[in-house]
Amino acid sequence: MSKYLIVANWKMNPLRQSDAYVLASRVEDGYLKFGKNVDVVICPPFPYIAVVSTAVKKIKYGAQNTFWAEKGAYTGEVSPAQLRDIGATHVILGHSERRIHLGETDEMVNKKVRAALDHGLSTILCIGESEREDGEIPAIVGEELVSALAGVKKQLLKNLIVCYEPVWAISTGKNARPDTPDSAFRAVLFIRKIITGLYDRKTADLLRIIYGGSVRKDNLYGFLTEGKMQGALVGGAGLDADEFTGIIEIASRAR
Ligand code: 13P
Repeated sequence: MSKYLIVANWKMNPLRQSDAYVLASRVEDGYLKFGKNVDVVICPPFPYIAVVSTAVKKIKYGAQNTFWAEKGAYTGEVSPAQLRDIGATHVILGHSERRIHLGETDEMVNKKVRAALDHGLSTILCIGESEREDGEIPAIVGEELVSALAGVKKQLLKNLIVCYEPVWAISTGKNARPDTPDSAFRAVLFIRKIITGLYDRKTADLLRIIYGGSVRKDNLYGFLTEGKMQGALVGGAGLDADEFTGIIEIASRAR
């Protein structure tokens, strides 16, 4: 079994590049101490990718978004080819904060996913519902997955990581609460069933699925074990070097 994957999504933080350097250096130190048995990725805001790349040697770094075209007249956008050129290995796409607040549509997410995979970026595709009425995983989760993967060839799925991130579980939301490991496990089954339908059983079994939403060191273990998640996408706790190092340590020991 592959190592767990722990990804820090710094969102639009911190406010100074010197703070980005210090945080990334401390995460690297934590990784060297505890994390050999886990894959760790930091996704800072675009302007700080360069400084993070100088602060880390063993852990990887990526971006929180990319565009679908390779180059040209697209003011303000950053292409997958440019991310590869600066050594980024991962990209987060389809995050609910972009879908809900910045108007990113399923079609845009699909174009971005295809471009990122075509350029060999490990692509972390976020899907998740805004509300949960009963215990069932809502259909919207499947719809987001199916539309994001339209036209994606099977052989490219080895670079895909699906992140199940229920919007109501994200720590910055009102009344946020983490999902339960049991329900996260149901999301894993749900996602694998859809991938089996779109591709085949083997592809579904090999797909990496991670969990996001209020992950902290004291709840991660349940998601990895009972929840059968293969890692986590971490927001707020990724900005605290001690907490994030704790998360790395738990993921390293859980395997
Ligand atoms: P929190 O870990 O702060 O809930 O954020 C989750 C998230 O949105 C990661 O992408």
